Amino acid sequence: MDQQPSTVEKRDQFGSRMGFILAAAGSAVGLGNLWKFPYMTGANGGGAFVVIYLLAVLIVGFSLMLMEFALGRNTSLAAAGAFRTLDNRFTFLGVMGVFSAFIIMGFYPVVGGWSVAYVVKTLTGELVAGASYDAIFGTLISGTFTPVFWTLIYLLMNVVIVAGGISGGIEKAAKLMMPALFILLIILAIRSITLPGAGAGLEYLFKPDWSLVNGGVVLAALGQAFFSLSLGMGCMITYASYLDKKENLVSTAFIVPALDTLIAILAGIVIIPATIALGFEVGAGPGLVFVTIPAVFATMGATVGRILSLFFFVLVVLAALTSSMSLLEVVVSYLVDEKNMTRKKAVTLAGIVMFIMSIAASLSMGAWSGFTIMGNNIFDLFDKITTNITMPLGGMGISIFVGWFWGKEKARGEVTNDGTIKFKLFDLWFFACKWVIPIIIGIVFLTGISSFPG
Ligand code: PHE
Repeated sequence: MDQQPSTVEKRDQFGSRMGFILAAAGSAVGLGNLWKFPYMTGANGGGAFVVIYLLAVLIVGFSLMLMEFALGRNTSLAAAGAFRTLDNRFTFLGVMGVFSAFIIMGFYPVVGGWSVAYVVKTLTGELVAGASYDAIFGTLISGTFTPVFWTLIYLLMNVVIVAGGISGGIEKAAKLMMPALFILLIILAIRSITLPGAGAGLEYLFKPDWSLVNGGVVLAALGQAFFSLSLGMGCMITYASYLDKKENLVSTAFIVPALDTLIAILAGIVIIPATIALGFEVGAGPGLVFVTIPAVFATMGATVGRILSLFFFVLVVLAALTSSMSLLEVVVSYLVDEKNMTRKKAVTLAGIVMFIMSIAASLSMGAWSGFTIMGNNIFDLFDKITTNITMPLGGMGISIFVGWFWGKEKARGEVTNDGTIKFKLFDLWFFACKWVIPIIIGIVFLTGISSFPG
């Protein structure tokens, strides 16, 4: 290690390459894929949104993932520390990342809590055929005590895992959860596309209608790529800081976005065709998964539907957990590396603040729904500030830093492990870091932001 963190504890590391890939993919794959991607696709017109999303992953996602891996491993420090040691004029980028993590953790646990509640609702038989699914969802999210209770339960799960540290907690959890998630999704996707009438849904998902696209849609797709890949806020910098010097960053930076995109598309294939085939509304918004899916399952027969529904919501909870624990880790490693706190104290402190923010986000759909800022309630505001503003701008800052300040030779040394790993596309990648990515993000941000907060 070149830079020792100031704490006396030895810095933890991932125990294996597979463990790291699974943890990074676990961070990427989450509610962004299963809950947000299908409803964003539905709300933004289908195929065209999907195509722009794929372009964003291809052009910006891969390159930025590699940059973040390189910065984290090079310094063995979480986001803020990484920038501080490399060039302290850029420390603000790391701090902005910690801010993003905090704000995301102000609404993510609310949806995590709904997911836990739906596991329980499936078990208790509340989601049977003929039930009024939008009423069930509406009652849950607009409640005062119940959603906050489930959010608390969900946050506690995160606190327990992250308190266990890297190899003991995060890695173990990811190793178990990721393969289970993948298998469950494949089963559900097969079920969905074999429904009579699923063809129209597949067409909606994959056939672009460009007339629906404007600057706001492009920014939404770009922001969604950042959110889904956990980029632009130091999360991948932080995870890579626990990585061994021998690992191949290039191949990992390819595998993780590929897996994440595969799972988002799979989730789309599970949800959109089934929704359309059964005559539900694809543009239903954040309730899409929670309202449509139980209804879809219920039409598959009482027992099968209930088992699949249980699978599905357990899957959503697992995927959400491996993501939110990485968000919590960003904040915790900042407090440990920069503020000399013990891991336990940092986890407790962060958990409490996140709980308070989540209460506000949860109540903003019920008792506090009258309180809005520029037309958004607190929940939407937390989402839009991060997805559409701080993450894309963070990504732009990271590219500018790597392309213009860190420099080509240092970047080359880190991503090729000092020349021992072949990376044929290095020049193209560096060109993207220096020119393409900052310019694209700049243009998309400026043309799309006018539609914020709409
Ligand atoms: N990528 C996660 C998801 O799709 C969310 C996330 C964002 C996690 C940023 C970490 C950092 O659900």
